[in-house]
Amino acid sequence: MEFIVDIDQISEDEPLRLMVAKRHGIGIYQNGDDYYCIDDWCPHAGGYMTQGPVEGMLAMCPIHGFQFEIDTGKCLQAAAFNVTSYPVTRRGDKLVINVEIDEAEA
Ligand code: FES
Repeated sequence: MEFIVDIDQISEDEPLRLMVAKRHGIGIYQNGDDYYCIDDWCPHAGGYMTQGPVEGMLAMCPIHGFQFEIDTGKCLQAAAFNVTSYPVTRRGDKLVINVEIDEAEA
């Protein structure tokens, strides 16, 4: 499913949390002129990375501080906690993100 957001909803300091299904949130991040998207649910204990600090290409979970690469979803503390990343396409002042939603999340 395609999701479209206004680019001015996102800044380097404030990523955007977007619910794409009842139980599925994504985080959209800016770094310079580039935009990235990863799942916004920490597999360690359910923190939302969009509510933690962002340093460069790393988003930090606010609960225990695990760090996630915003371009790949890789968790630097343990591969078992990697999250899904999604390609972001810029169209003018909009960002387009494609996320597959499975029935269990709807
Ligand atoms: S819940 Fe995210 S690091 Fe523990």
